[in-house]
Amino acid sequence: MPLPPISLAGKRALVTGGASGIGAVTARIWRELGASVAIADITADGLSRVAGDIGATALTPGDVRVETDVDRMVDEAAAALGGLDLVFNSAGLADAITATVDQDIDRWQRVLDTNLRGTYLVCRAAARIMLPQRSGAIVNVASVNGTGGFPRRTAYGASKAGVMLVTRALACEWGGSGIRVNAVAPGYIRTPMVDQLIADKKIDVKRIEDRTPLGRLGAPEEVAQAAAFLVSDWAPYITGTVLYVDGGWTAFGGAGDVATA
Ligand SMILES: NC(=O)c1ccc[n+]([C@@H]2O[C@H](COP(=O)([O-])OP(=O)(O)OC[C@H]3O[C@@H](n4cnc5c(N)ncnc54)[C@H](O)[C@@H]3O)[C@@H](O)[C@H]2O)c1
Repeated sequence: MPLPPISLAGKRALVTGGASGIGAVTARIWRELGASVAIADITADGLSRVAGDIGATALTPGDVRVETDVDRMVDEAAAALGGLDLVFNSAGLADAITATVDQDIDRWQRVLDTNLRGTYLVCRAAARIMLPQRSGAIVNVASVNGTGGFPRRTAYGASKAGVMLVTRALACEWGGSGIRVNAVAPGYIRTPMVDQLIADKKIDVKRIEDRTPLGRLGAPEEVAQAAAFLVSDWAPYITGTVLYVDGGWTAFGGAGDVATA
């Protein structure tokens, strides 16, 4: 009997941070795989444009840092889609990347609140729907920054390490109730977030390429496909894992460039 192709047909999915970058592309690819999708974001503009382009539901904009916004967005998604089976937590914010002694604590806290508190709040609200139905799959977005130490990025790295631990803890707590919780950990992916860091000269593309075994930055599609696998029926025994989508970044432990190490 041949295996069926990966499909999300009949699944009802919420994608946060869906107005841009990895979230927008994931919403599109999950739609193409057959899911009905509701997208959430803090910004109204990109949200309605992306939703219109891919045939998704644009939720009333909201802030994942705010408990009442999150509860409302999750309920709105479930009401619009007729239930909730899948969640992709892509809403996120980069560090300012300045010397730690010069960092603004309000900005530091905002990164933690967006990436860690926001992910936690969305998982919690989604589980209130998934636990009674005894099924569901969630993918959180961590980062290679949550594993290795990156100078000048204490908030972002701490938030993404936290996302990995929240993922593992929730996988253990909810596994017996039929809910799987996993994370993807992207390396450098060409999105508006990374384009801004390049424009601000905060990161050097050539040096990143030389440090990456596959020799290039990633595409949002490559993260979206990994996340689709994790929520699909192809991954029924996978929970609590962090899947690196990083071109080999975390595998490399040599000095300098991969080619000359
Ligand atoms: N691009 C990369 O190289 C990379 C690498 C590792 C991890 N990530 C993570 O992937 C996720 C998506 O990043 P991206 O590169 O697509 O960035 P992006 O800036 O293109 O998209 C992030 C989206 O999140 C939304 N958002 C920000 N704060 C929010 C809030 N408080 N409430 C609701 N929505 C909010 C933004 O409006 C935006 O639409 C983030 O969690 C990011 O940390 C990205």
